[in-house]
Formats: sequence, C-alpha cells, structure tokens
Amino acid sequence: MEHSNYIASANDKPLFTPGPLTTSRSVKQAMLRDLGSRDSAFVNLVRDVRQRLLALAGVAAPDYECVIMQGSGTYSVEAVISSAVSAQGKLLAISNGAYGQRIIQIAKVHKIDATILTYPEDAKPTAADVEAALAQDPALTHVALVHSETTTGMINPIDEIGAVVKRHKRRFIVDAMSSFGGMPLEPDKTGIDFLVSSANKCIEGVPGFGLILASRAALLECEGRARSLSLDVFGQWKALEANGQFRFTPPTHALLAFHQALDELVAEGGVIARAQRYSKNYQTLVAGMRSLGFKEYLQPQDQGHIIVSFRFPDHPRFEFEEFYSRLSDKGYVIYPGKVSNADCFRIGCIGRLFPADFAALLAAIRAVKLEMNFEA
Ligand SMILES: Cc1ncc(COP(=O)(O)O)c(C=O)c1O
Repeated sequence: MEHSNYIASANDKPLFTPGPLTTSRSVKQAMLRDLGSRDSAFVNLVRDVRQRLLALAGVAAPDYECVIMQGSGTYSVEAVISSAVSAQGKLLAISNGAYGQRIIQIAKVHKIDATILTYPEDAKPTAADVEAALAQDPALTHVALVHSETTTGMINPIDEIGAVVKRHKRRFIVDAMSSFGGMPLEPDKTGIDFLVSSANKCIEGVPGFGLILASRAALLECEGRARSLSLDVFGQWKALEANGQFRFTPPTHALLAFHQALDELVAEGGVIARAQRYSKNYQTLVAGMRSLGFKEYLQPQDQGHIIVSFRFPDHPRFEFEEFYSRLSDKGYVIYPGKVSNADCFRIGCIGRLFPADFAALLAAIRAVKLEMNFEA
C-alpha cells in the first residue's frame, strides 16, 4: 500500500488535521528558492497558477477570473464579503457551523446589513428556506454559504441552493475552503459567483494565501465597493491583470510550493483521483474508529470525506488532552473539536496521506485506548 512521503525532517509528524496539513517532500523542496516579486519567472508562475486554478474548476477567463489574496483563508472570505456587498446591499448569511458563523462575524465587523439563517450544526440548510428568504426580502443582494463545513464535516447542498439564488438573480458566495481540489466543483453550473479556498487545503500547498474564483460580471461590480485597501478583491485583480504583479509583497515561497502542488495534483489524476484517495482515507478511518467503538457526530449521509467529528467516549477515563498528547507522542497529530453542542474531536482525511497512514493512526489510537483504559 502506498505511504505518504511527508518526511522532510526526522521530526515531522503526519497531520490528520484540516490544515495546515501534511505536504509532500517535493512541495516543501520547491520553496528552496528566492524569487523576486517582480521577476519574470515569478510573474509567469503566478499567471500559470491563476489559469490552472480556473481550469481545475472547469472555467476560464473571461467568464471567470482568479484572484490570489495574501493571508489565510479567512482573509479571502473577508475580502469577498467586504468587496462584493455594496453599501446599499444586503447579505443572506447561512450558517450551520463555526465557519458559517465567521461569515456572520465578518458582515458584522464591516457593518454589512445581513439576514441570518442559522441551523443546528447537525442539520443541513435547505433550498426551500433560502427560497422563502429571498422571495420575502428583495433587498437581499448576496447569499453566502460554506460548502464543506469543517466544524463537523457536513457537505452543504450548494447545487440546490445555487439554483434558487440564480433563479432570484442574486449573487452566490461559497466558502469552499476545505473542499476545493478534494471534491469536484463546477462554479458555473452551480451558479457560484465567488468561490473561496486556500493554498493549504486539498491542493496540498503550504499556508500563505487564499484563492478566489469569481464570475467576471460579479467581480466587475466590486469596483469601488471595498471596505479596506488590502482586502480589495477588485483592486487585487486589476493589479494582477495589469502587470502580473501583486500590489503588496506576495508569498513567493508559498506560490512556488503551490505550483509544485498543482503539478502533483495533475500527476495523481486530477480532482477525481484525489477525491478517491481522500474517500478511501475516510472509509479506512471510519471503519477503524467504529470497530474501536467511537461514534461520528454526523449521520453518514450528511458526512463528506474531508474531515470527521467523533464524539468523546462517554467514559470517566477518557480525557481529550491526554488522548491527544499520547497520540502526539506516538507521532500522530489529530485536531480538537469545534462543535458547540457536543464534545468532539476531529480527524482530517486530507493532505499527503494515504490509507496506510490511517491504518497506522488507528493502530496508535487502539494502543492509546488500552493505555488509558477507557471504553468507547
Ligand atoms: C470552511 C472553512 N472556512 C474558513 C476557514 C478559515 O481558514 P483560515 O484558518 O485559513 O483562515 C477554514 C479553515 O479551516 C474552513 O475550513
């Protein structure tokens, strides 16, 4: 069985997290260069990355444009929300988890008028609710939704909701942070006007920037709407188009790594092949965890193959900090929970990890369970 080639130094542990995640040795090695931000080699690399990101989503200029934004994923979500919704505009923010809540928080900070559609973390937003909200309030101009809600691992129904948003001729913003590259996504067919993701998720690059795929019509509307200088999506795009350069210092090394990561995604067989690997990781994980007695937070039909939330075992000798530390001591990094109404921990299925890595993690979990002597 194939193993990951993550070991860049003897001390690196595989990261069973939603990012930053385990990257290949060759992705890390691609950063061993110093490129000037105005150097033609770097400008050409950025142009190539932007084109390939569009191609990955099955779209191309001039219908869709790709904007790269420095910072973590949240910076790009904030850039889109604060650049797209005008002073007179209004956002329908849909939330069933912490990342949906973050969109609401962004709207609040920027004093953007918003209607909030909140669901419990184990429930899916429905197209019927979105239809009712849009029909009732003509002032709503934009709808924002997270695709893979990394809080739980839930996959939200973007196709059904996208169809409603388009029928009502509103703009659709999708936070596809933890799904883009790891699940097939077709922004044009789904009616997505702004798709946001980041370098250190399913494309398996290193942290440093976010990426925005925007329909050109929606992007052009952003001119003059931005509420900040550095997070101006239109301004960033204009600069990238003008001379291929970033307005402010770009994350050159992260882009070098990302270019290599895109090559490795192609070599693996593209998004479909990557989704199959992640899906096998997920199946290995869930089958093994169930056999150890652990229970998932979500129903299997709502669960994606990106990340899984497991409930804390209801046993007095289970203590998460100790469980986490013992696993880390054995060389395996898992992730704390984020669900608000249940005690959970999370295990990510993405990154340069293979089913054999999950089999090794499961063996370590079995050993820790015996050491701590708890029942799951
Ligand atoms: C769905 C989703 N949105 C937003 C973010 C925030 O990204 P970052 O932590 O890179 O700012 C994450 C991070 O995991 C995420 O999974």
